[in-house]
This record gives sequence, C-alpha cells and structure tokens, in this order.
Amino acid sequence: MTVDRRDERPESGEQAGTSRRSFLSRLWLGLGGLALAEYVWLTVEFLRPRAGSKEAAGILVAGPIERFDPGSVTAFPAGRFYLTRLADGGFLAVSRECTHLGCTVPWMADEGRFVCPCHSSAYDIRGDVLSPPAPRALDIHPVRIENGIVKVDTGRTLKRRYFEASQVARA
Ligand code: FES
Repeated sequence: MTVDRRDERPESGEQAGTSRRSFLSRLWLGLGGLALAEYVWLTVEFLRPRAGSKEAAGILVAGPIERFDPGSVTAFPAGRFYLTRLADGGFLAVSRECTHLGCTVPWMADEGRFVCPCHSSAYDIRGDVLSPPAPRALDIHPVRIENGIVKVDTGRTLKRRYFEASQVARA
C-alpha cells in the first residue's frame, strides 16, 4: 500500500512556521512583560520613601565627646571631613576639600596645620587660610552635640570666607 504524502508536506511546513511565529510572539510578549515589570518595580523603589531617611540622611555619628582630645584632629574618610576639637573644647567639622581647586588636604600633625599637596595652600586647625592660593577657609559641616554624642550633618556644607567663633559647636 502506498501513501501519497505530497499534500502533507506543505501543511506540516506551514504548521511549523506558524508554530515558530507563535512561539516567538509569545517569547517577545513575555520579555516585554518582564521589562515592563522591571521598569515599574524600579520606579516604585525609586519613589518609595525610606523609613527614617529624613533624620538619618547625612548625619554621621562621630562618637562621644571624651573620645576627642582638645587640640586634636580626627579624620572621617567616609564623610570626607575632619573633626577638629579646638583647644577650648569646641568642635568643627572641616571639609577635606581644598578651596583652591578641590584637592584632598591632609592634616600634617607634626606641623599642626593642613597643607594641600597640589599648590601648597595651608590652613590652621580651624580651617582658616594660613597661606594662599586658597581663596577662603575650608568648608564646614554643621555639628551638633546631643547627650554627649557628637553628630555631623554631612548632607549640608557651609561655605565661609573666614573662621568665626559662631561656627564652633559646644556641648
Ligand atoms: Fe589646594 Fe591648589 S588645590 S592649593
């Protein structure tokens, strides 16, 4: 018995083509849906308020007052500032960014001053300019002392021309 399969071939080819197209359509639809879901999720995550973020944003807890000796300079690399405790016990959070062209300024303990490695500007422990080309004092961040704990608001930067006593935080 012979079976004539001439009519079957075009049909099965057509079916395979339809099936492939259908599969690809579903695949694209699925990938599109996945991309849309990811987009929606990212948007929601971006817009969702963080619990307690208002209070915590930019506040760095430096530590208890006793940890810092009068006349000391303590680096806080994560906050990009130095916490200086002046001889009279007051605190300043001094930015480590040179006001000339922004180089990172190290504290030279043996010299008792900040000296910029780029163009040799120097600042005293309060961040006041000792020698140019720095055009003004180092920026500061607000400091507050709560229950004997020193906290620095790294989210706010205060530009200043000179050091003034009103900039110092006290217990
Ligand atoms: Fe500090 Fe120029 S960047 S002196």
